[in-house]
Formats: sequence, C-alpha cells, structure tokens
Amino acid sequence: MKTQVCIIGAGPAGLLLGHLLRAEGVDCVVLERRSPDYVLSRIRAGVLENITVSLMERLGLDQRLKAEGLPHDGFNLADGERLIRIDIADLTGGQQVVVYGQTELTRDLMDAREERGLEVIYETEDTALFDVESEAPYVTYTKDGTQHRVDCRFIVGCDGFHGPSREAIPASVGKEYMREYPFGWLGILADVPPCNHELIYANHERGFALASMRSETRSRYYVDVPLTDKVEDWSDERLWDELAIRLGPEAAANITRGPALEKSIAPLRSFVFAPMRHGSLLLCGDSAHIVPPTGAKGLNLAASDVHYAAEALTGFFNRSDNDAITAYSDTALARVWKSERFSWSLTKLMHRFPEDGPFERAMQQAELDYIASSRAAQTSIAENYVGLPV
Ligand code: APR
Ligand code: PHB
Repeated sequence: MKTQVCIIGAGPAGLLLGHLLRAEGVDCVVLERRSPDYVLSRIRAGVLENITVSLMERLGLDQRLKAEGLPHDGFNLADGERLIRIDIADLTGGQQVVVYGQTELTRDLMDAREERGLEVIYETEDTALFDVESEAPYVTYTKDGTQHRVDCRFIVGCDGFHGPSREAIPASVGKEYMREYPFGWLGILADVPPCNHELIYANHERGFALASMRSETRSRYYVDVPLTDKVEDWSDERLWDELAIRLGPEAAANITRGPALEKSIAPLRSFVFAPMRHGSLLLCGDSAHIVPPTGAKGLNLAASDVHYAAEALTGFFNRSDNDAITAYSDTALARVWKSERFSWSLTKLMHRFPEDGPFERAMQQAELDYIASSRAAQTSIAENYVGLPV
C-alpha cells in the first residue's frame, strides 16, 4: 500500500488526526492492533477542553456531544468541610468545559470512519517502523497471518504509552522525563445521579476523592489508594463509605449509592518524551506524554497535538509549506509542558503524599487558603483547567 500519512493507533488521537487529514484531502491509513470493542472498553476521563470540542465541531461530528455533553461553568476544590468554587466562566471570559465521556468521543470518531472514507485497519500485529529518518519511511504489519507494507511520506505515532513509535526514535536523540506517583486512583462508574452538579476534587486527611459524572443519571467517582491495593480489596460499600467521608458531609448527604458498572485502579505518572518529531516520524498524544488525571488533560493534550500535526501535514501536502512540520515538536511541547505543570501541581495540591510531613501539609493548607481568598489564584487555575490557548 502507498499513502501520504500512516497513522499508528486508532485511539482518540489517531482517529481525530485521520479525520482531520481526510477532511483536507490528505491520504492516510490508520493501523490499530486491537479490535474496535477493545478500544471502546478502555477507561477514559470525562472532561473536554475547548480545543477538543472545536475540532469535533470543525469535523461536523459533534451532534451527540452537543446533545449529551454537559457544559460546566465551574468546578470545586474541597478541603475538609470547605468548598472552594472555581468559577471558570466568570474567570475566563465565559469559557466552559464540557463533561462528556472520552470513550463516547472515541465512539463518535469510530462510527464516522466509513462515511468519511477514513481507512482504519484493526487487529494488526507486529507493527514496525522503518527509515523514519528518510523521506520515504514505511511501516510493516501482519494481518490474519499475511505481512503488509505501507509506504508513506510521514508516519504519525498515535500508539499510546506502550506503542512502538517512540522506540523508533534513537536513544541518542530522545530524552524522557518521568515522575511516578506513590498512589493510584480507584474509580467506580455507577448508574446513579451525581452528588453535585459540578465536579468536586477533595483533599481529605484520609486522602483524595473526585466526584464526577457522565450524565444526569450516571456518576463517576475516584479515591486515591496505595499502589499495593487491589480492586478486590474494595467492595462497593467500602468505596461508597470512603467517598462519603472524603467528599465531606454536604456532598455525602447527596451521594446516591448503586452497584459498580465498572471498578478499576489506575497508576498515576507524569511523563514527557522529547522531541515529538524525528525525521518523517511525528508523535501525538500518549505516545509522547502522560499526565496524572487530576487535571483531565490526557485526551485534551492529544487534541492539541493533533491540531498542530494536522496543520503541519496539510500545509506540507496542500501548500508545500515545510515550516510547520519543522516547528511541530517545539510548538506541541510548549503546550504539553504547561499542561504537565498544571496536572502535576493540582495533583500535589490535592493528594496526601506518604513522604510528606507537617511542613508539606501546611504548604497545601496555605495554598488552598490563598486560592480561597485570591481571584488571581483562581484565575490561574481556571485558565489552565479550560485549556490554555492553542
Ligand atoms: N500497533 C497498532 N496500534 C497500537 C500499537 C501497535 N503496535 N500499540 C498501541 N496501539 C494502539 C492501542 O491499542 C490504542 O488503541 O494505539 C492506541 C493508543 O490510544 P490511547 O492509548 O487511547 O492514546 P491516545 O489516542 O493518545 O489518547 C490520548 O485519551 O482518553 C484519553 O486517557 C486517554 O490519555 C489518553 C488520551
Ligand atoms: C472523569 O469524569 O472520569 C474525570 C473527570 C475529571 C478528572 C479526571 C477524571 O480530572
């Protein structure tokens, strides 16, 4: 097969990029090692920044998002019995975030592939990248026992943290930045109404909790747990009891309990790989960076990477403009690092770290007191939470 762009990975980054390139008449193919059902089974967060919503609007794939998404004007930081509301709309000149399952966004992109002429090949095996430093790279893969080759001008690695693309960049070129956190997030999804109309991030003496939602009738909650915990250590009742304590009495009074539709523990890490381009290989999304979910930045950072990559690739193919390709890594990383900082800082503020002593706790308390009393501090949080300009 010969095409202009070979995209590896059909998660939200790969599908979003594929649709954007097709919409601009750029030939591409997407290779995905898993089945469509497996990709949809991945647990994902539920907050969309402006950039993600605007790309779906631009593609005309925002019908369900508009119908089912919940626009939010604010969110809350809980500190014991204090609730600090961050009034996003007031502090950012009317901007909002939209609560909409990122799995649903992936589904919307997946469902539109045939009508939009986006070729996605699922259940590929042994994907390998070749000659990425040349202007004629290629990818090989196996499907149903037959080996295939894709010759292209660019490869875009949208293959997540565990994919092969990042490994195709020589160790002498790439640099990794990693912070692993000493806890995981235990999450529960249940068909019960949310305890609050806006998200609540809580820092309690027993640990972190988050009250989120998928709709007016489906809720998503999290608590942080030691990395040694297993899901089977946490019955639904034990988790509901813990949430009621950590979220504080007012929220607890509004919690509706119900059986878990899904319950899992995910580790937290901050990770950046630079550069995000080497020769004819570009990286987008989790293949290049991971954030702790505290700021709900994962998919939204992938969206800004994809925006920059699509602009660069369409410029190259449709306007013979090489500049944006050359600048892609620096442009994408400039926003990646700011989102990494915000996600790391909100994680530090809202979690109890085992190694922290009284001084570190006093610093958390002082920062929350400052946020509670300062419009400037709240503005900084609000503009990062809705997403910095692209
Ligand atoms: N060949 C083909 N596909 C591969 C390979 C491979 N060798 N390795 C991984 N993949 C696929 C995975 O199966 C997965 O479907 O790449 C895809 C990567 O998707 P994600 O991990 O979801 O990463 P990304 O698309 O960058 O999503 C970014 O969205 O919902 C959030 O939390 C999520 O932070 C993540 C963000
Ligand atoms: C979610 O709804 O799953 C969610 C929301 C906000 C976060 C993380 C996860 O910061």
